Amino acid sequence: PAPGWAIDADVVVVGSGVAGLTTALRCAAAGLATVVVTKARLDDGSTRWAQGGIAAALGEGDTPEQHLDDTLVAGAGLCDETAVRALVTEGPDAVRRLIETGAHFDTTDTGAIALTREGGHHRRRIAHAGGDATGAEISRALVEAVRSAALHTIENALVLDLLTDAEGRTQGVTLHVMGEGQHDGVGAVRAPAVVLATGGMGQVFSATTNPPVSTGDGVALALRAGAEVSDLEFVQFHPTVLFLGADSEGQQPLVSEAVRGEGAHLVDASGTRFMLGQHELAELAPRDIVAKAITRQMLLHGTEHMYLDARHFGAEMWEQRFPTILAACRAHGIDPVTEPIPVAPAAHYASGGVRTDLRGRTTVPGLYACGEVACTGVHGANRLASNSLLEGLVFAERIAADIVDGPRTGAGAAARTPVAEPAGTRTVPLLTAESRTAVQRIMTKGAGVIRSGGSLAVAAGELDALQRAAAAVDKDGPKDAVPGVEAWEATNLLLVSQVLVAAARQREETRGCHWREDRPERDDDVWRRHLVVRVDPYLR
Ligand code: SIN
Repeated sequence: PAPGWAIDADVVVVGSGVAGLTTALRCAAAGLATVVVTKARLDDGSTRWAQGGIAAALGEGDTPEQHLDDTLVAGAGLCDETAVRALVTEGPDAVRRLIETGAHFDTTDTGAIALTREGGHHRRRIAHAGGDATGAEISRALVEAVRSAALHTIENALVLDLLTDAEGRTQGVTLHVMGEGQHDGVGAVRAPAVVLATGGMGQVFSATTNPPVSTGDGVALALRAGAEVSDLEFVQFHPTVLFLGADSEGQQPLVSEAVRGEGAHLVDASGTRFMLGQHELAELAPRDIVAKAITRQMLLHGTEHMYLDARHFGAEMWEQRFPTILAACRAHGIDPVTEPIPVAPAAHYASGGVRTDLRGRTTVPGLYACGEVACTGVHGANRLASNSLLEGLVFAERIAADIVDGPRTGAGAAARTPVAEPAGTRTVPLLTAESRTAVQRIMTKGAGVIRSGGSLAVAAGELDALQRAAAAVDKDGPKDAVPGVEAWEATNLLLVSQVLVAAARQREETRGCHWREDRPERDDDVWRRHLVVRVDPYLR
């Protein structure tokens, strides 16, 4: 459908987690006309669900170099060392600037930032807030700062596609806004710089820690715009997600790695610790290793979950240090003070995404990607715990600096104007909203924590069949009807799933969080490289 209205700006930021809001605040502070568009409310993305915290070399005796070493080991040979170096050296100051923006972190008796441990970290390096509610505090502080800054926000707005000029340069985005009054319907934000900060794609799978809005929209938009996407096969499964039954679908409650960081044990039904002897860090091994060990135990015992035992914390520590997790467990009838917590791995984080350079630039001029949607190279084949909020902060600052040096529209305060463009036609066949569950089940069965060439081939065939069915229905449908958000979400999920499966089929090895049971070894001779995808522009 053609945009019915447009506003002009210097930069439009798509998404409102730590990456998007930090970019927007820095751009607005530099005097750029900045618009933030977000699919639901400003605080509805993944950031607010982050528990454990934010990793940075802030503790005595810790150094960025040690943080770099742990990040490279977790990344299983595929991190871009230059990007990691930027992350870990700029990280401590980025956290301090977040504090200046208004976020309150937990402190020790002496007033220093309290630090905990998580998987893969050899040091206490994770700053946290509200015990286990770090993301909620970061989101609160950033949303508050955005509300009092000179920038324009549009909520309940699903971004549909990138606008480009004849030379392929970014010109803004089209979006579909619901129920916001002034900007309702399909419109456009015209700007020479677009920052994708749309978060992840956990909803590709049936069970995930991600909120319902994490449907891979940014990666799908970037693919439709002809941008390069990389490392999509590396989906991180969080080892300890509260197990609510094998049929439980959608967002599942996380049990932070910080619980293990404070001394909880992973045990089987007989109470035996199975991580001992598997890795020098035992329960605090990197996340892929723990998720695999839990899955192996489940297969060995023919069970659907293992247990996390932290009864020895006692009621007081549970209440003070992990109030969110305690409440979530109790809401589901489990009391971690008196019984072990049933846990199983669930989809958690996309280590890959839209490929960028160190300034956050994608391969489409004027299009940037920041945070989980991006593939900056810092995560390699498996992200180190609590590096994601940090990546959002550090690369937001880099992107804002790059945009500030770039072209301006001189738009001043963004103003709404009618648009006279000819009607655009939508060429992507849209799935029905109900197809979302079908995609999730196909992906869970064929491309989940354990994959094989066979399971991936089945998934690829089933996904293609869904697309063909959508195309057949869509062929006769009205091309200019305003599509519902659910249909776009399902369509985006399908596209990113197809690319993910294609990459997972191609990577015939096991590395990081990509576990091929038919190719169980890591193969550095052939596969110490990235799979980069750019889809045929017919989708545009
Ligand atoms: C957690 O708290 O375990 C999640 C941390 C992360 O995903 O980095």
